[in-house]
Amino acid sequence: MVAQSMDSLVSLSKRRGFIFQSNNIYGGLQGVYDFGPLGVELKKNIRESWWSDIVYKNENIFGLDASILTHPLVLNYSGHEETFTDPLVDCKDCKARHRADFINDSKCPLCGSTSLTEPRDFNLMFKTNIGPVADSNNFAYLRPETAQQIFTNFKNIMDSSSPSLPFGIAQIGKAFRNEITPRNFIFRVREFEQMELEYFVKPNDADKALEEWLEQRLKWWDMQGVCKDKLEIYDVPSDELSHYSKKTYDLMYEFPHGKEELEGIANRTDFDLGSHSQNQETLKINAKIKHNPDSKSKLGIQDENGEWFVPYVIEPSAGIERAFLAILNEAYTEESLENGKNRIVLKLKPHLAPIKAAVIPLKKNDMGLVKMATELKNKLQKDIDQRIVLENTGNIGKSYRKHDEIGTPYCITIDFDSLAEGTVTIRDRDTMKQNTIKVESISKHMSF
Ligand code: GAP
Repeated sequence: MVAQSMDSLVSLSKRRGFIFQSNNIYGGLQGVYDFGPLGVELKKNIRESWWSDIVYKNENIFGLDASILTHPLVLNYSGHEETFTDPLVDCKDCKARHRADFINDSKCPLCGSTSLTEPRDFNLMFKTNIGPVADSNNFAYLRPETAQQIFTNFKNIMDSSSPSLPFGIAQIGKAFRNEITPRNFIFRVREFEQMELEYFVKPNDADKALEEWLEQRLKWWDMQGVCKDKLEIYDVPSDELSHYSKKTYDLMYEFPHGKEELEGIANRTDFDLGSHSQNQETLKINAKIKHNPDSKSKLGIQDENGEWFVPYVIEPSAGIERAFLAILNEAYTEESLENGKNRIVLKLKPHLAPIKAAVIPLKKNDMGLVKMATELKNKLQKDIDQRIVLENTGNIGKSYRKHDEIGTPYCITIDFDSLAEGTVTIRDRDTMKQNTIKVESISKHMSF
C-alpha cells in the first residue's frame, strides 16, 4: 500500500527528522528544503546506489564534479538563455503569479479572479554577481542542469582519460531553477540535486542506446523499490520536446499529488557538443545550432578516416528529491496488527535505510547490558561502516515503533540471556519475526 496523502509523508518527514522547511525560523523560504539527520542518510544512500550502478559497474563511464557557477556563454550557446522559460501569468487582483499551464478555467487558483494578464515568458535561471562589483557584465548563472558542465569538460576528459566511443560522463550535484510555483513538498523545488549521465555514442547507435538506457534505468528503479508497473513510460510528443532533444522518454510516477515526471531519458543528439564547438564548419553536425565565435574548443572525435564528427549523447537525468519522494511513498505502509493496534512502517530497501540496525539493551542503564550492547554496536558499526545506533531507553516497544517508522531493517535486543549465553534477539522490520541467535552469527542474519 502506498501513502494515502502527501500529508502523511510531510508529517513523518518532520516528526522523525528526514526533511524540514528551510529557513523556517524566519518564516521559511519557498521551494527550498533542508534534509535532517535521517534525510541526509537516505539521500546519500540514493546517490551511492546510482553512482555504483552507473559509474562503478561500467568501465567506460567516468565521474565528474564540476562547478555550480556557470559562465553566461555556456548557457547562451546551450540555448537556455533563450528557451529555458515557463509561461507566467499575473493575477491583477491578488497580484499572485502562476504558471500559465497551472491555470484552470482562466481563473486565479488563489482568489478565483478572472482578471489575469496575458502569459509571458519567464526565464528560470538564477543569476549571481561575480566579484565585488555588481554590474550586468559580471555575473554567472547557478546551473539549471548539471549536464552543461559535462559538455564543457568533454575535451578535458577525452585528453586525460582517452576513452573511445561509447563512453559516459556522470555527475551528481545541485541544480537551481527559479520555479514560478514550487509545490508539492520536495517535488518541485528551486534548489535540488540531479543525477545525470551523458553517454556519448556514434550517431547511428543513438536510437539503440536510448532503448538500452531506458531498460537499465527501469531496473535501477526496481532495485530502489519503485517497480516497473508503478512507472509509465511517456514517449514525449515532438511538440513537447526540449529544444535539444530528438526523442525523450519520461518515466512517470504516481506521486501522492498525481502522476508526474520522475526521470527523463533523452537523445540530445549532437546539439550540445556541436553548440559549444569552435570551427563548427569543420565538423559534421546534424542538429540545428547557433554559430559560435566564442568557444576555444572543438568538441568532436575523429573517425577511422580522420574525419571529424560530433558524437550523439543519451542522457538519463533524475532528480534526487523526486527519487526520495517516490521511494518514501512506496515504502510508507500503515498496517493493522493482530492486537488491534496500528503501526507505520517504512519498508525501505535495506541498502537505502538511514539506520541499518538498532541495538537495544533490555533494561535502561543496566551496566552489563549496556556494555555488551555498546561493544556490539561499535563492532557492527566498524564491520558494516553504516549507521548503527544504540537505543538505551529501556522501552523495547517504543524503540520498535520508532525504528519501524524510520525504516531500520533490524532491531537487536540484548537481554540477560545475552550476558549468560552470548545470544541476542534479532527482529525483522517487515515480518516483525524475532529470532534468538548467537551473537557471532549476527552478520549472517542481516543483508543490505
Ligand atoms: N539535463 C536534463 C534536464 O535537466 P529536466 O527534465 O528538466 O531535464 C531532469 O530535469 C530531472 O530533474 C527531472 O526528471 C526531475 O527528476 C528533476 N527536476 C527538474 N526540475 C526539478 C525541480 N524544480 N524540483 C525537483 N526536481 C526537479
